[in-house]
Amino acid sequence: MGGNLPEIRTRWSEVSGGIDAANAYQRRFDELARRGADLDGEARFVHGLREAPARILDAGCGTGRVATTLTRLGHDVVGVDADAAMIEVARERDEVTRFVHADLSTLSLTAQTFDIVMMAGNVVPFLADGTLVEVLRRMRAHLSADGLLVCGWALPGHQPEGAAAVSAQDAERAAFAADLSLVARYASWDAQPWPGDGSWALTLHRPR
Ligand SMILES: C[S@@+](CC[C@H](N)C(=O)[O-])C[C@H]1O[C@@H](n2cnc3c(N)ncnc32)[C@H](O)[C@@H]1O
Repeated sequence: MGGNLPEIRTRWSEVSGGIDAANAYQRRFDELARRGADLDGEARFVHGLREAPARILDAGCGTGRVATTLTRLGHDVVGVDADAAMIEVARERDEVTRFVHADLSTLSLTAQTFDIVMMAGNVVPFLADGTLVEVLRRMRAHLSADGLLVCGWALPGHQPEGAAAVSAQDAERAAFAADLSLVARYASWDAQPWPGDGSWALTLHRPR
């Protein structure tokens, strides 16, 4: 898949991959949008944290669902994903946002820091097993001194097929190891109080 680019193995690449899967992923969202579903919760939350134009890294951007909305809202957005086909679809749909094919666990965007680094839509449980601390270290390295890392994912028992069971405690231990400190935790992208019904975690961290 993805022309000559090397495949990056993640939990996501075990359940997806290739241009047909990426197009099908995007079609599902297009269909939901046609039926009037609200797909902008993540972008709205992040937009509320920093006035535009903020520098935002959408880490695990997929086909650019959130990144493109944030660009339209006036932010300066870079999307990064390990799935070359998802990046291909993102670039076809949006020629303004910069989309980069790269592995978050080794990410090094030269001389670039961000006001917000976000991991939306179950990126955390679709990482390769055993890489969460390294990924969070790389995300921290891309944050400005007063930047925020924003992560939202489905908790154990509610995660999609093929995704890992990552509890809030697992994530907090990894964040601590990555020298990040917790600023706030919610139960949803519309900031329902933690722990809500226990199905979802949304965490905000800053560099320690
Ligand atoms: C469920 S999709 C979510 C996509 C997008 N954030 C959204 O909300 O529509 C999870 C994404 O995380 C990406 N991902 C997982 N591990 C990654 C890694 N190590 N580096 C970059 N992207 C990764 C996958 O390739 C996949 O596109």
